[in-house]
Amino acid sequence: MTSSPFLARSREELRGALSRRRGPVALVPTMGALHAGHAGLLTRARQAVGPEAPLVASIFVNPMQFAAGEDLDRYPRTFDADVELCAEHGVDVVFSPSVEEVYPGGDPQVTVDPGPLARVLEGASRPTHFHGVLTVVAKLFGLVRPDVAVFGQKDYQQLTLIRRMVDDLCMGIDVVGAETVREEDGLALSSRNRYLDEDQRWRAVALPRTLFAAREAARYGASVAIAAARHELRHARGVDLEYLELTAPDLGPAPTTGPARLLIAARVGTTRLIDNVALELNGDS
Ligand code: PAF
Repeated sequence: MTSSPFLARSREELRGALSRRRGPVALVPTMGALHAGHAGLLTRARQAVGPEAPLVASIFVNPMQFAAGEDLDRYPRTFDADVELCAEHGVDVVFSPSVEEVYPGGDPQVTVDPGPLARVLEGASRPTHFHGVLTVVAKLFGLVRPDVAVFGQKDYQQLTLIRRMVDDLCMGIDVVGAETVREEDGLALSSRNRYLDEDQRWRAVALPRTLFAAREAARYGASVAIAAARHELRHARGVDLEYLELTAPDLGPAPTTGPARLLIAARVGTTRLIDNVALELNGDS
């Protein structure tokens, strides 16, 4: 038996719904088009606050994080199915505001500057993206006032920047990074996978294969790990690599030994996919 979440469209409805509940508030911010990856975030959020505490999922396709020519208009919108998935995963409140509700005066004058980390990796080809992401996440934090917020590790740079914002601006929110959920063949779940046709879907497996090859080889050091990744990519047809970057877990310069992160972005057809894995580097490199 699942019970329907309360649907809040306005700030007042949201505050009303939360004022009737007790306990730490958990928030899972989303742009809808929910899939099993989001279900994982909701499960993780519920674990974090316990069975009785209020769990809020926001569904808001944030125009501020899309540049002109990106997929804002064709971003998948599957609201009824999203609410059903929320109900199945114990969400108490779905907050689904309009653009006017989130940005009442149009473009905000005061926004969050995401700093230098937003200009590398994803930011190199999407220079305004994280400015929009951090601004809307700060707004959602202000509106929902969560104690815990859960984001996916699949968007690792986003997760890292949100952690940074929460620390640097003393927001006092516990940011949890949930494990990436993958298809059986390793492809990370993403709302954008639905843009892939059958052939592209098959080719897209090159991304996780590249990352997993590097993870396996990491015990021989960073240069062997990168060579293993590049070897995988040489066999990948129809996959246009944008970047393959080895970094520290906080996205600083890559260490020579110990924990590291490998991040990849590539286009398969017209669809841009990203993925990443944690590595443990050993040996000389
Ligand atoms: O990861 C997303 O879906 C979005 O970037 C987020 C965090 C909901 C902000 O719009």
